[in-house]
Amino acid sequence: MAPSQVIVTNGGKQSVYQAFQTVVNPGDEVLLPAPYWTTYPEAIALADGTPVEVFAGADQDYKVTVAQLEAARTDKTTVLVFVSPSNPTGSVYTPEETAEIGRWALEHGIWVITDEIYQNLTYEGTRAVSIVEAVPELAEQTILVNGVAKTYAMTGWRVGWMVGPADAMKLAGNLQSHLTSNVNNVAQIAAAAALNGPQDEAEQFRLAFDRRRQLIVSELAKIDGVEVPNPLGAFYVYPDVQGLLNRSWDGVTPTTSLELADLILEKAEVAVVPGEAFGPSGYLRLSYALGDEQLLEGVQRLQRLFS
Ligand SMILES: Cc1ncc(COP(=O)(O)O)c(C=O)c1O
Repeated sequence: MAPSQVIVTNGGKQSVYQAFQTVVNPGDEVLLPAPYWTTYPEAIALADGTPVEVFAGADQDYKVTVAQLEAARTDKTTVLVFVSPSNPTGSVYTPEETAEIGRWALEHGIWVITDEIYQNLTYEGTRAVSIVEAVPELAEQTILVNGVAKTYAMTGWRVGWMVGPADAMKLAGNLQSHLTSNVNNVAQIAAAAALNGPQDEAEQFRLAFDRRRQLIVSELAKIDGVEVPNPLGAFYVYPDVQGLLNRSWDGVTPTTSLELADLILEKAEVAVVPGEAFGPSGYLRLSYALGDEQLLEGVQRLQRLFS
């Protein structure tokens, strides 16, 4: 890969912003699988594009199919957002699913913006295959986004990168030169040390996440009314909580996941993010990027509230 195909950015977030600015023209429709990370619709809107949500529920492990994408495609569709492992759901597309979506994008000349920031956080022997690895010809119409925030817990260092065809990266580089210029050198050197140095600490983190993932999934599953698909990546679990709605808990009857999240905060003093932040109501995002004891205490409080 040539240096002209890579831009180092101030976190993955700047790459996300610049990717949409580079390939989206006013009025373009961008297919956005939902539940989605909250920044994508905003970044699409900042590029004057229109996000078109394609929803996949817990019954399909929150993963969209080619049939769904094809049903949402119009002559204004120019970009697909592809995120595996996903924030907020933790879902990981299989190599076959990834290849199928990649071939569909290639066939229709649709750009893919693929956010691979959770790439190294996968479990149970799963590997998140990059869409350009699955369909190499797609590289000419794909922008990859990545960063050190998740694998190395280096969120505050603000180092990410984008990779794509040289002409697209030239445009993104022109934009960045007027926004922020380069990423500060100290942070770049620290990021390079993380990427090129021994990976055993990152592996220790991953193993700790895996332990916490198993704990939270098994404990949440004990709550009647909660459906918990097994997330194979990232550090989130995304239960379907529709079975808890319109029932009375401690004198309160939540009708949406937003109201449910308020109830949980109020009564159990546990912070969860309602599905409304990522797409439809009826879901909660719980992060398990915290200590084992706190995690267990948090889920047990939910078990008590909903018993
Ligand atoms: C899916 C996804 N992409 C990108 C980012 C951006 O990470 P950063 O800008 O900290 O590198 C995040 C952070 O939460 C994320 O969840």
